[in-house]
Amino acid sequence: MTNPVNTALLQPRHGFLTPIYRELRPLEHYLLQDHLLRLSPESRALRFGNPVSERMIENYCRNEGRLMPIICGAFIGDTLRGVVELRFDPDMPRDIAELAISVEDDWQDIGIGTRLMELAHSCARDNGIVRLEVNFLPHNAAMRRLAWKFGAGFSHQTGLTKGVFILPDPTFAVVAGSKRPQ
Ligand SMILES: CC(C)(COP(=O)(O)OP(=O)(O)OC[C@H]1O[C@@H](n2cnc3c(N)ncnc32)[C@H](O)[C@@H]1OP(=O)(O)O)[C@@H](O)C(=O)NCCC(=O)NCCS
Repeated sequence: MTNPVNTALLQPRHGFLTPIYRELRPLEHYLLQDHLLRLSPESRALRFGNPVSERMIENYCRNEGRLMPIICGAFIGDTLRGVVELRFDPDMPRDIAELAISVEDDWQDIGIGTRLMELAHSCARDNGIVRLEVNFLPHNAAMRRLAWKFGAGFSHQTGLTKGVFILPDPTFAVVAGSKRPQ
């Protein structure tokens, strides 16, 4: 298996600004819309599982009636070129989240998705999430590879592949890091 860290440490291309990876503040969530609108029609369809119009993306980004997601991004210069979203279903326990990821076409296949997945896993653990799920089209080879690198288990249902990541129980980490006997 390729080591995600090794992949992420590939040298940047000449003249290529090093991406900055970080969680977005809620006030920055509006940046998601322009990022999604910059995806090619093919990448958008892979991101959402079917073709989506600009209007659908605008509605999606309004996030009305839904819980606030956790959004992490890759900034190249001042522009958000890659995003990983962790979204919560109000009918599901708060320690389960759905993951969705997108990297703009000209920046794909150079390790940004891998770095975003590392950040998403770290944010998920910090927020007490123990199960992450990602749904993608069965022919999405890049997403399948990325999920596999991070240890996903796969199942198939109604035209989609589901990848499930089981994260370490956060209470175990607290106990493991304690200086006192538990
Ligand atoms: C899926 C996606 C986020 C991957 O991002 P990325 O920045 O290209 O990912 P990386 O460069 O870190 O590559 C991850 C792995 O996939 C492989 N990969 C990348 N593009 C690939 C492709 N088109 N076909 C097969 N494998 C591919 C890479 O080689 C790498 O594997 P390796 O580390 O063993 O070499 C990106 O392709 C994308 O935005 N696609 C459109 C949206 C989407 O499909 N989202 C998923 C559903 S939510």
